[in-house]
Amino acid sequence: MTDGQAALPSVQPEARRPLKVVQWATGGVGRAAIEGVLSHPALELVGCWVHAADKHGRDVGDLLGTEQVGVTATTSAEEILALDADCVVYSPLVPNDEEVAALLRSGKNVVTPVGWIYPDPAKVGAIEAACAEGGSTLHGTGIHPGGITERFPLMLSAVSARITHVRAEEFSDIRTYGAPDVIRHVMAFGGTPEEALASPMAALLGSGFRASVRMVVAELGFDADPHVETLQEVAVATAPIESPIGVIEPGLVAARRFHWRALVDGVPVVTATVNWLMGEEHLDPDWGFGPEGERFEVEVTGDPSVKLTFKGLQPETVEAGLVRNPGIVSTANHCVSAIPYVVAAEPGIRTYLDLPLIAGRAAPEVGRHPSSG
Ligand SMILES: NC(=O)c1ccc[n+]([C@@H]2O[C@H](COP(=O)([O-])OP(=O)(O)OC[C@H]3O[C@@H](n4cnc5c(N)ncnc54)[C@H](OP(=O)(O)O)[C@@H]3O)[C@@H](O)[C@H]2O)c1
Repeated sequence: MTDGQAALPSVQPEARRPLKVVQWATGGVGRAAIEGVLSHPALELVGCWVHAADKHGRDVGDLLGTEQVGVTATTSAEEILALDADCVVYSPLVPNDEEVAALLRSGKNVVTPVGWIYPDPAKVGAIEAACAEGGSTLHGTGIHPGGITERFPLMLSAVSARITHVRAEEFSDIRTYGAPDVIRHVMAFGGTPEEALASPMAALLGSGFRASVRMVVAELGFDADPHVETLQEVAVATAPIESPIGVIEPGLVAARRFHWRALVDGVPVVTATVNWLMGEEHLDPDWGFGPEGERFEVEVTGDPSVKLTFKGLQPETVEAGLVRNPGIVSTANHCVSAIPYVVAAEPGIRTYLDLPLIAGRAAPEVGRHPSSG
């Protein structure tokens, strides 16, 4: 091909017709995924499952606060299963294996930020069987986990040699995350330190991060201990702190740090860390984000050592984040961008290691190639 020819790269797997997409759950991720589907040239929204009874029967536009979309939300899983659709973006509060298997058996591909990033093959027999029965594909993605903890570290690792350590780390103000159920029940804020440290949800939360760590270990070829270690720390409020789960009173958990680490002879080789703080004031210990502020980092230690800092995934202010949090929008976008590639993939669970490079799509207002939609 000569320069100046306008052909699209052959990796773009867009179908000739728009792909029909269902949104499952309309929390922060779900609403952003709907926006992403509506603006994607190759996708069409055809259905929407909601958990909340008061959302049943309403137009999706009402749930987004926009003009009518022409798709009515339903609490009926049966209605969704009966729909003719290519893919479901599955983003409920917590994953339900049976629900996902039913969607896959019905022939719908599933993209989700709630698990299956790099699952243990011994634990996903039923899901693989559902994929085989429905000829469908399941892809787990997101940003953290599901992007910053494995996809981008793996990409960065390609420019380094003799790698000794890979680190992915989040520094976020959780006052900007308007998902009280996730903050209270999944991230275990607002209770006593004992409750937080013993929370069974830490295992669920950690399963995605541990999977990311295992993916990097496997692809880079570290001979690591198969057990990915989890270290937890908490900081408590020293004064009342306003948060999306209400006021956090002194003595209760207002910041959390997790490290998930793969070790070779006791030495970390792959680490995923989160620093989740309800602001930088009134914490004991007095944790903070440091001079670089909120961010995500990916660092590969090798020859040469390289470091990538992501800015822009956190909102400018707490108030802005509660209206529309860019990290949540990015999580949704990573799901939506994957849809054409997942629909085109072979049936089964497909990870970043199986799929081609996933890209976003041009905005219509700057001019789109006609064959991109
Ligand atoms: N991998 C990543 O990077 C990443 C990033 C952010 C979030 N996440 C995960 O994505 C999921 C959604 O996050 P979010 O920020 O959208 O949370 P959210 O705003 O709390 O939304 C969750 C939605 O799930 C539905 N729901 C509530 N209770 C439920 C229940 N008992 N059973 C089934 N569904 C229920 C509701 O849907 P309706 O409103 O439709 O009724 C709710 O709006 C969470 O599991 C979160 O941990 C992953």
